[in-house]
Amino acid sequence: MSPKVFSERILEWYGVHKRDLPWRNTENPYFIWLSEIILQQTRVSQGLPYFEKFAENYPSIEALAQAPEEEVMRLWQGLGYYSRARNLHACAKEIFENRQSTFPKTYRELLQLKGVGSYTAAAIASFAYGEPVAVVDGNVFRVLSRVFGISEDIMSSKGKKTFESFANMLIPKNSAAAYNQAIMEFGALQCVPKSPDCRSCPLKEGCFAYQKSMVDQLPVKSKK
Ligand code: ADE
Repeated sequence: MSPKVFSERILEWYGVHKRDLPWRNTENPYFIWLSEIILQQTRVSQGLPYFEKFAENYPSIEALAQAPEEEVMRLWQGLGYYSRARNLHACAKEIFENRQSTFPKTYRELLQLKGVGSYTAAAIASFAYGEPVAVVDGNVFRVLSRVFGISEDIMSSKGKKTFESFANMLIPKNSAAAYNQAIMEFGALQCVPKSPDCRSCPLKEGCFAYQKSMVDQLPVKSKK
């Protein structure tokens, strides 16, 4: 399947099936960053009420930066991985105090922030600023490995690099934000890990794994 056909089909599917999630209705980097930190290691259904609580209590980076640490930690309670909350607060203070509350605007600069790795930097850069840099999470590994028959180990650094370059080659330059949301949503709802409903899939004709009956063998993931 050509990159163009792939991205068009994914975007078309997304237009019909996407969930209405609050962080999808904004281009404000602060809210996008907040949602992505909350959603690291957390399911959407669990993260959603936390996002709403944080967005309401701290409607701006200034508000979060000026909040007492104990209050931020208390609001985070129940979500786990507490270093995320500490990094979130430290990062808000850093941007408030040293950058006049202005978020970095490029993938490269975003990577410098505490708690922001390549996935989160790509999410903010594309969703807020339209930079055509691919998000690569578990959903993206699964979709790409199956559709294009990539059998490299997603746990190895070589495998991760292969997927990242491939994903960056696929990304449509003029609809990076929607496409990145779309491929993650496609992995979350259609191309699911176990027993996906391939008969209803708009990519099945061109899908390597479906055509070769290898859906349950991809992606390849070695034990840690
Ligand atoms: N998981 C992580 N980021 C997400 C996003 N932007 N939308 C839905 N699920 C996500």
